[in-house]
Amino acid sequence: DRSELERQFEDTIGRDQRIEPRDWMPDGYRSTLVRQIAQHAHSEIIGMQPEANWITRAPSLRRKAILLAKVQDEAGHGLYLYSATESLGADRSELTGKLISGKQKYSSIFNYPTLTFADVGVIGWLVDGAAICNQVPLCRCSYGPYARAMIRICKEESFHQRQGYELLMTMMHGTQGQRRMVQEATDRWWWPSLMMFGPPDADSPNTAQSMAWKIKRHTNDELRQRFVDMTVPQAEALGVTLPDPHLRWNAERGRYDFGEIDWTEFTAVIKGNGPCNAQRVAQRRRAHEEGSWVREAAAAHAEKQRALRQV
Ligand code: 3HC
Repeated sequence: DRSELERQFEDTIGRDQRIEPRDWMPDGYRSTLVRQIAQHAHSEIIGMQPEANWITRAPSLRRKAILLAKVQDEAGHGLYLYSATESLGADRSELTGKLISGKQKYSSIFNYPTLTFADVGVIGWLVDGAAICNQVPLCRCSYGPYARAMIRICKEESFHQRQGYELLMTMMHGTQGQRRMVQEATDRWWWPSLMMFGPPDADSPNTAQSMAWKIKRHTNDELRQRFVDMTVPQAEALGVTLPDPHLRWNAERGRYDFGEIDWTEFTAVIKGNGPCNAQRVAQRRRAHEEGSWVREAAAAHAEKQRALRQV
């Protein structure tokens, strides 16, 4: 009966064991996972757009090849994560419909423009760096398919972060103009990268429950702090300054103190009023519509194969 199923579920979570697709789970656990994993997948797919802008404009064949590989990885991460939602009974085309109609979100960070090639490096360094901070704990998420997908994704994300940092290091050893480009891109991306971790814990309606279900292993603020502490020394090694006058080492806390995040900007961006929201969603809609012939052909082919097998 239900109470026995509930007890088994709680017991599995309590023992840090994994919940698998065929296990009983509370409806709220399932819907929270579909919400989070779907939006994670949407983020990967939308996240291809800002960088794709520089594939045809990369300054060398090597940079173009690296960027191509990274954007392809992100497509793969998206497909991997949509498969994880399907293990929970979600329908991939329904989720795409929710993304295109604005009923589901994707990460705020991808609503900012990539104005110079230094943005490609800063996205690797800061955005993928923040994604790694957020995704490594997800490898210990209580839902098996999501945790296992994260292990592979984190390995590829580390390559994304390293290539971005190496790109910036090269530019910082370049001309004065290149160094200025890196600083200017850092100024634009720093605060939006901190917003990636979500609202403050006090304003996060989902964190408490997600922590209880061990979907989240750390809170938004804990991961944001970890990212700041990890990134400040990297900025010093690069020779760029982070655009926060309140940033300073706090010996008592053993952490960096940092300034107030502009939560009105965050709220505006996730409401759809960021610099690139309309463009990103329109592009995703266009790709979906232009791709309908591929989906129809694949479905017709699958139908033919099925009919052949029945003869
Ligand atoms: N962008 C857009 N929406 C955000 C957001 C952000 N940066 N941060 C929070 N939100 C939304 C939440 O989705 C939630 O709205 P919803 O209920 O409609 O889904 C609302 O704001 C309240 O936030 P909560 O903190 O209560 O919500 P969560 O518990 O879901 O925490 C999260 C938000 C930390 C983003 C969590 O969902 C999470 O860890 N998701 C998995 C990681 C992820 O999605 N990363 C995307 C980064 S980009 C990426 O990975 C691509 C890489 O290649 C760079």
